[in-house]
Amino acid sequence: MTENLIDSSLRTVEWKNNKVVMIDQTKLPNELVFVEYDDFNQIANAIKTLIVRGAPAIGVSGAFGLALAVLQSKATTKDELISDLEEARKILFATRPTAVNLGWGLEKIMTIAKTGDSIEQIKELVISTAKKMADEDIEINKAMGKNGSALFDDNDTIMTHCNAGALATVAYGTALGVIRATRESGKNVKVIATETRPIQQGSRLTAFELKHDGFDVSLVPDTAVGYSMANGLVNKVVVGADRIVKTGHVFNKIGTYQVATMAKQHGIPFYVAAPLSTIDLETKAEDVIIEMRKGSEVTGIGDKKTAPDDIGVINPAFDMTPPELISGIITEKGVATAPYEESIPKLFEAN
Ligand code: MRU
Repeated sequence: MTENLIDSSLRTVEWKNNKVVMIDQTKLPNELVFVEYDDFNQIANAIKTLIVRGAPAIGVSGAFGLALAVLQSKATTKDELISDLEEARKILFATRPTAVNLGWGLEKIMTIAKTGDSIEQIKELVISTAKKMADEDIEINKAMGKNGSALFDDNDTIMTHCNAGALATVAYGTALGVIRATRESGKNVKVIATETRPIQQGSRLTAFELKHDGFDVSLVPDTAVGYSMANGLVNKVVVGADRIVKTGHVFNKIGTYQVATMAKQHGIPFYVAAPLSTIDLETKAEDVIIEMRKGSEVTGIGDKKTAPDDIGVINPAFDMTPPELISGIITEKGVATAPYEESIPKLFEAN
């Protein structure tokens, strides 16, 4: 049933016949289920409930949400249509606060919509731009992969955390895109995927995606990161990001900071792979909102309760890794290294 998941023609999120089709990631790895939406409110719900997740994938989903909103609108003037889009933008934006790609995708569509002269032109511009963003996401990941592959050697064992793969993007992946490109360049690599509690994007999605693609991948509990590094099982790390600020502070899945700290302790290079759309030059690290999720994700695994009733829970979905723990930030425009305040803005100048 999951046979074609990494088939290059298959996308995590796609625009088809004026509908949005996406893989329901909450069902993986047990079932490959596609869901089809024609209402932007359904897209908002899909983002909130992690049917679609991963920063670039939710950026493109937000854009597709606005493409549905132009089709749903009953507006008879350009101003009414922009105001309907503005309402939809607010609803989509309110779903998840940490990944900057969501706001980026929505903003890009709103800007293009405002350049349209008529209702018909706005509809055409919004839909074609959203589709283009999805296509470009794949190209960007491939360029990023190529840039990153130079940092990895034959016979490396690479640790990754969470899922920054095809499933977190439109296709190919960011961190896993770098791993794919390294293999495509002829190097033999092994991967260690962390389980990524509480909702196991590492075991449910990364291990599944890489195994399906024929990689030598082993799964470790999050608690075995130190063991794996101390015992020489890992020699490089690559993860994705939800937001990178201009000082080089990286916001990514909870636990990333622990992995980076252990990597530093053991002298293991720790890389972050992300597109420029994940870089936020405006917000300061201390102002980034960390999404707090429901306690039931921690007090149980699936339907099985694993904690006493009425226990207090702290469940942040993301954490911040400071720049001194990061060996390089791999993007489609090159690899930024410390001092990041100088190297990150330069990425935006490169053609
Ligand atoms: O809560 P999630 O599953 O959306 O978190 C995803 C991550 O933290 C990824 O590492 C990040 O979005 C990069 S995806 C290319």
